[in-house]
Amino acid sequence: MGAINRIVENDFIHRVSADEYRSKIKDVYGGPKGALLATASKMSLHIQLGRRLIRTRKFNLHGLKSILDVGSGAGQIAGHLLEFADPDARIVCTDLSEQMLRRARQRLKSNRPEFIAADVTNLPFADGTFDGITCGYVLEHVPDPAHGLSEMARVLRKGGRMLLLATEDNFSGAWTSRLWYCQTYNRRELMELCESLGLHWKKELWFTPMHKAIRAGGICVEIEKV
Ligand SMILES: C[S@@+](CC[C@H](N)C(=O)[O-])C[C@H]1O[C@@H](n2cnc3c(N)ncnc32)[C@H](O)[C@@H]1O
Repeated sequence: MGAINRIVENDFIHRVSADEYRSKIKDVYGGPKGALLATASKMSLHIQLGRRLIRTRKFNLHGLKSILDVGSGAGQIAGHLLEFADPDARIVCTDLSEQMLRRARQRLKSNRPEFIAADVTNLPFADGTFDGITCGYVLEHVPDPAHGLSEMARVLRKGGRMLLLATEDNFSGAWTSRLWYCQTYNRRELMELCESLGLHWKKELWFTPMHKAIRAGGICVEIEKV
């Protein structure tokens, strides 16, 4: 990580206990920042770019009959699942914050998804329940990412696919980390960790060719459980 990152990056996540951190994150997302999350995601084009990724089938939802959206937030990714998943697919939205689940339900205006409050490190589902998982910008809130990744690997069936988005350890990532009390990830280290847990990085994705050319937009990858 570069010198600038070290100055601006927030190390709160590593300074407090796991319980204190969880409670802080619930407060942050339950409060005014969480209320502005959907608007912020539109302004940063995150919603539009994520939709493009799924509409163009760079991450193909076709054939996935049960999809878990982890850390749904305001339903930014869940909205794309409702729009593009197979009509008979089961869609389950989970989040640590019940308030964020309420916001997602309000924003999505759909009775189709199941909304379940749950921590990504302790998911209330049997092994191999899901064909697909989407997880956007949640792992940055998990002090030990291996706990979140291995739990997602557990509930994903063998051969199942995951869309993982995570904040990268670059300059813009460092500011994100400051704003949201989260951590950022080194691309290679995260890949090695995933592979060690049986989560194979099948395809690195980029929102647009421009993002790919300048390596912007953060970590975005299709993973397959092997
Ligand atoms: C930045 S938002 C991401 C929202 C959405 N997934 C997206 O792609 O924009 C992060 C969400 O993760 C949730 N979250 C944080 N830690 C979590 C955990 N340990 N388990 C489940 N959800 C968590 C937060 O409550 C918040 O709603």
